Amino acid sequence: MQLILIGFMGSGKTTIARKVAHHYHCDWIDLDRYIMQEQQMTINEIFAEKGQAAFRQMEFEALQTLIQHDGIIATGGGVVDDAQTRHLLEQSHIPIFFLNGSYEAHWRRVSRNDRRPLVNQLGHDGLRELYHKRRPKYYRLADYTIFFQHKTPNMMLAEIDTQL
Ligand code: S3P
Repeated sequence: MQLILIGFMGSGKTTIARKVAHHYHCDWIDLDRYIMQEQQMTINEIFAEKGQAAFRQMEFEALQTLIQHDGIIATGGGVVDDAQTRHLLEQSHIPIFFLNGSYEAHWRRVSRNDRRPLVNQLGHDGLRELYHKRRPKYYRLADYTIFFQHKTPNMMLAEIDTQL
């Protein structure tokens, strides 16, 4: 079982990856968590000490490894901003699900904590710009789009299940 979840920060990729994996009795991995373990640093530390470009390269390399194994992958919201990562995802032939919702729905979720450097850097309006810039890229990459608003994780799992 292989499946990739994409979407903006706060779309619930990690929660849904865990849920889907549990349902299908397969592994799941969160790309951010994998990178933090590899680097022994938090995402905030990586951004501060190595910069965003270095982080994008880490995401690319991590994905290159992870797509070779079975399981559900929750990507980071920024994977669509890197051309080589986009290309890798396009060529992977693994079903890609885009978790989609309004900007404010994402903001409500991400503004609750400070573990995302871009939320702190950009604030509400800057992040909205980034959301609108990325949306077409998510759509282009996705095989399926699932709206998360007013839905429980179980409802989303059921939707994903009908598409597979
Ligand atoms: C980022 C999203 C984050 C994380 C990093 C950068 C982005 O992942 O990779 O903070 O550029 O959108 P989540 O989408 O899991 O929050």
